[in-house]
Amino acid sequence: MLSQKLQAEVLKIAHEHYQLTPQDVELEATRDLVHGDYTTNAALRVASKWGVPPRQAAGVLLEQLRLSKLVNTLCGKVEVAGPGFINFWLKPELLVTRLGELTNTKDRAVLRGQRVLVDYSSPNIAKPMHIGHIRSTIIGQALVNLYQALGAKVTGINHLGDWGTQFGKLIAAYKLWGNRAAVHKHPIQEMLRLYVKFHEVLKTKPELAKEGQLEFRKLEQGDRQSRSLWNWFKRESLREFGALYKRLGVKFTYITGESFYEPMLRGAVADLVKRKLAVKNADGSIVVHLEAEGLPPCLIQKSDGGSLYVTRDLATMRYRLQRFKPHKILYVVANQQALHFEQLFAVVRRAGYSSRAELDHIKFGLVLGEDGLKLATREGRIIKLEDVLAEAVIRARKIVDSKNSKLSSRDKARVAEAVGVGAVKYNDLSQNRQSDIAFNWDKMLSLEGNSAPYLQYTYVRLKSILRKAGEPTQARSSKSAAGELLYSITERDLTLLRMLSRYPDAIGRAAKENGPHLLAGYLYELANSTNSYYQDSPVLTAGVILRPFRLHVVSTAAAVLKEGLGILGIATVEKM
Ligand code: ARG
Repeated sequence: MLSQKLQAEVLKIAHEHYQLTPQDVELEATRDLVHGDYTTNAALRVASKWGVPPRQAAGVLLEQLRLSKLVNTLCGKVEVAGPGFINFWLKPELLVTRLGELTNTKDRAVLRGQRVLVDYSSPNIAKPMHIGHIRSTIIGQALVNLYQALGAKVTGINHLGDWGTQFGKLIAAYKLWGNRAAVHKHPIQEMLRLYVKFHEVLKTKPELAKEGQLEFRKLEQGDRQSRSLWNWFKRESLREFGALYKRLGVKFTYITGESFYEPMLRGAVADLVKRKLAVKNADGSIVVHLEAEGLPPCLIQKSDGGSLYVTRDLATMRYRLQRFKPHKILYVVANQQALHFEQLFAVVRRAGYSSRAELDHIKFGLVLGEDGLKLATREGRIIKLEDVLAEAVIRARKIVDSKNSKLSSRDKARVAEAVGVGAVKYNDLSQNRQSDIAFNWDKMLSLEGNSAPYLQYTYVRLKSILRKAGEPTQARSSKSAAGELLYSITERDLTLLRMLSRYPDAIGRAAKENGPHLLAGYLYELANSTNSYYQDSPVLTAGVILRPFRLHVVSTAAAVLKEGLGILGIATVEKM
């Protein structure tokens, strides 16, 4: 990747002169093109490390950079700005030749050889997915795609919640009031009904509690009938989740539930006890004290010997570290579980289970309705994703119909599905995941704002220009033609070229910060630039030199939009 080469050069020089290390030197795409294409903070680091005035350090580095062969091949201009930033402008000829490489996956495979695990979606079986699982599913898949786009080897894990006393209750309830056909017809709805009924009847018949415990005990002991019922509940749940995953374009590499780690729980606790990292309380419960980390003690075994959520995660982590030897594990789970993951990671670090793996809790906030309150139906029930998608597709269909296109009604339905589902996903992915996000139908489906339909429609318009042009003429590649081209291109051409050239960096930054919104924000800006580009600079009617070049620019912009949206998990369509 170009920015990497440039960064390596800056580092080399900064190391020679000021002993800076890779951690010190950042090179990033600038926020605004007026400050050049890339910027580095190296001089500011020199200042904080050695007390040299930053502008002075910047001056020294600048002088060396201007002598560098690499910098001279890549950059037309290097300057010091502000308190001591060094800004770089790429050469126009480089921007032109770079066009063809922007969607080249080999060029940006900076994470090749890295193994990344993403634990996402992870719903509890026999229950509907709530909004937390849905956000996790959408954000998690985007992260899987992002890391893959950078060449990492990614394992997408669906860590199903398939273990716990609630399954004893469910089995008891099923034996009392359930039937096979009903579960098969609407699995989750029916299992939820049985579970809710169990708790209702429990109020007047407390002896039912025993029934549930007994069933769970049987399940734990491997009773054949219990196991087979539980397996069936799991299959039915997965069948229903699977339909949703398919519609959302979600693909896991690895689907295992918490139950898989059940046999490893004792070992996980025993290891910590043996190494005196965990202690037994007077009541027999076992905890790891985390005062040193500023955290409350982490309970890993109850006084009755039972395990906890964190015990299962601990065993799971040990297994994953051994089996996959990952460089990174991402847990895409709502903000509410922050303490759980802080404790889990602290215990793992204490125990020294992961020397190289970076552990990250990828947190996210709630989804708020238009009134700023937690998203729910008027009656206060949780909103189901199926209903949200159905509504989105109906609204998208109205947009498609308003375009009066000549599409067949079957194609219109296909487009409406892509636009509706895309709108819901983009709404989630384009906002900073850490904050609560707003759910606003009009904004989500607007053809003008920062929305999936806007980006999808931009793509459609670019494709229509390319269709009108017929076969895209290859840019003439002789030296003199290239010279002529550079002489003919305008400031506007250059601006879009520079915008396009930032694409690999946008992917890189989004992965580095685990923030899909950074890629979404880039695509939105790119769409804006592209739209004003072809409105202000003639493409089809341009002269013999500029026309093929501009068509190439337009087709690259289309390819980048398509690929970028694809990374976010959003489909594009050729016509609307
Ligand atoms: N099933 C859990 C829940 O619904 C989420 C699991 C997240 N992953 C994990 N390894 N803890 O809350």
